[in-house]
Amino acid sequence: MADFKIAPSILSADFANLGAEVQAVEKAGADYCHFDVMDNHYVPNLTIGPMVAEALNPVTNMPLDVHLMIEPVDDIVPEFAKAGADIITFHPEASRHPHRTLQLIKSQGCRAGISLNPGTPVEMLDYLMDEVDLILVMSVNPGFGGQAFIESAMDKIRAIRERIDNSGRAIELEVDGGIKADNVARVAEAGADVFVSGSGVFKADDYAARMKEFREALAG
Ligand code: DX5
Ligand code: ZN
Repeated sequence: MADFKIAPSILSADFANLGAEVQAVEKAGADYCHFDVMDNHYVPNLTIGPMVAEALNPVTNMPLDVHLMIEPVDDIVPEFAKAGADIITFHPEASRHPHRTLQLIKSQGCRAGISLNPGTPVEMLDYLMDEVDLILVMSVNPGFGGQAFIESAMDKIRAIRERIDNSGRAIELEVDGGIKADNVARVAEAGADVFVSGSGVFKADDYAARMKEFREALAG
């Protein structure tokens, strides 16, 4: 079986009990802690920053998978690295020099990810494949949890899987938005290997039971 990873997005967690929520999904078998950063500028919502990452880092062994939906990007990258981010992903439209931003993230000791919005063409990746460690395909428009999966993401996932295989590099292909236990298998079949799910995990009454549903769907 492929090495599939599940990354619950804490955007849908109970913010009054964030540390306990992160520990609960880790215990339920989650692989990454997906950490959504929004600035009410690049996206129309406002969430959490490096201070919260720093607070969560010691309470979990899961890698912190920081998804920056902010503009500009570069100034705050070292802050997230210091706060314990393992992966830092940004949107290329939000950086004047995406290639430089990828290099900056890696120079800070983190893995570097790039995220494609539903309207962003795959050609955006053309001269970045040598620098990127993770590609995050948005299957909703960024800004909110609980939106419906946008079907055109499926073709994009297939196209990017082909590019990753041709690159010969170990680049992770993560998908974010509208992923539930009942569609995750299709997304995996298209070539993704990391699955972000916010409402699909945190709105469950029993996280372990929901994670089991995800695992069973992925096992086929
Ligand atoms: C949306 C965020 C997602 C969000 C996913 O901008 O990047 O990570 O939390 O939420 P669901 O899984 O509910 O679509
Ligand atoms: Zn996200």
